[in-house]
Amino acid sequence: MRIQETIIIEVDPTNPEEKKLKRAAEIIRKGGLVAFPTETVYGLGANALNRKAVIKIFEAKGRPMDNPLIVHISDMKMIREIAKMNEIAERLAKKFFPGPITLVVDKKEVIPPEVTAGLETVAIRMPSHPIALKLIKVSGVPIAAPSANLAGKPSPTKTEHVIDDLYGKVDLILDGGETNIGVESTVVDTTVYPVEILRPGGLPIEEIRKVVDVKTFDRKVGVPKSPGMKYRHYAPEAELIVLYGKREDVIRKTKEMAEEMRGKGMKLGIVATKASAYSGIDAEVVELGDSLEEVAKNLFSSLRDLDKRGVDIIIAEGVEEKGLGIAVMNRLKKASGHRFYRV
Ligand code: TXA
Ligand code: MG
Repeated sequence: MRIQETIIIEVDPTNPEEKKLKRAAEIIRKGGLVAFPTETVYGLGANALNRKAVIKIFEAKGRPMDNPLIVHISDMKMIREIAKMNEIAERLAKKFFPGPITLVVDKKEVIPPEVTAGLETVAIRMPSHPIALKLIKVSGVPIAAPSANLAGKPSPTKTEHVIDDLYGKVDLILDGGETNIGVESTVVDTTVYPVEILRPGGLPIEEIRKVVDVKTFDRKVGVPKSPGMKYRHYAPEAELIVLYGKREDVIRKTKEMAEEMRGKGMKLGIVATKASAYSGIDAEVVELGDSLEEVAKNLFSSLRDLDKRGVDIIIAEGVEEKGLGIAVMNRLKKASGHRFYRV
C-alpha cells in the first residue's frame, strides 16, 4: 500500500460545514478513500460504483476479499438504482432508515462484484449521522464502507482509533468526535422470511420484531451466514476473558484471578460497568457505565485503551443479553475468541 499523508479535518457533527464535505466528496468521486463518522462507528468509504476504489478499501484494512461491504446511501432513489427492494425491505426501510440497521437485498448489475464478494445480494444502509448522510448526498454516489479499523481490531469510535489503524493509508479523515452508539448496525437478511439477523447491532432485535417476523437469533454463533462472521473480530492485543453472572460473583472471581495473575507477574486490565466495585484490585480498570447504551458506546474504546496501557490479560464483565446487550455480548464473545465463562 502506497504510504501518503492523511488529511484530517474537524467537522461539526450536528451541522457539518458544506465546504469541508465538498472536499471529501471530491476525493470519493476521484476514487480515493475517506474515513467518516456514522452514528454506530467510523466507516472507511469509497465510491461503491468504482471497483478500483473499492479494492483500495480491502488493501487499506487488510480485509479478506470474500467479506462483502455495506453500501451506504442517502435516499430511497439511490437505493433503487443499486438494489431490488422487496416488500419486507421496503417496510423495514420505511420504519428504520436512516438508522443503525443494514438490509441485505438482491443487487442490481451496477454494483461491482468486489463490493459483494461475488454474492447476488447487497447490504445497504442509510446512516443517520449528519456527516455521513451529507457526505453521501454531496458525493452523489453510493459509498461502500466497512468499519474504519484494521481487519480483526475493535471498530473505531473516535478519530484517534482511525489514525492509529489507518494513518497513511487513507486520503482524508473527517473528525466528527465520538460516535454515539458504539457498536455496528444490525444486519438483516430480507431475502428470507421470517427475516434473519446476520449480525446483532445498534438497532435492538426487539424493535425489528415489531415490524416483521424474525427468525430466532442463535446467540451461540454457529455456522457463519454472513461471510464476515467467520473471521476473528474486534480483538485487542491482550488476551480477553469474559465473565458472566451475578455482579458479586463476577467481582469475586475477578479478584481471585487478579491474585493469580499477579503471582505470575502479569498486568491485568478490567472492563467494568462500575469501576468502584473493583477497588483494591491491582489492575488497570476502565469503566463503561451502568446503562446498556453506555456499555455499547464505550466497549471498543475500552479494549483499545487497555492495549495502550500494556496489559497482558483483560477481564470483561458480561451484560444481560437483552436489547443492545445482545450486540455487546456478541462482540465480546468474538473478541475473546469465545473465552466466555458463567460464574
Ligand atoms: O454500523 C455499521 O454497519 C458500520 C458503519 C461504518 O456503517 N459498518 C460495518 O461494516 O460494520 P463491516 O464491513 O465492518 O461489516 C459488514 C458486515 C459483515 O459482517 C459482512 O459480512 C456483512 O455485513 N455483509 C455485507 N454484505 C453482505 C451480504 N450481501 N450478505 C450477507 N452479509 C453481508
Ligand atoms: Mg468491521
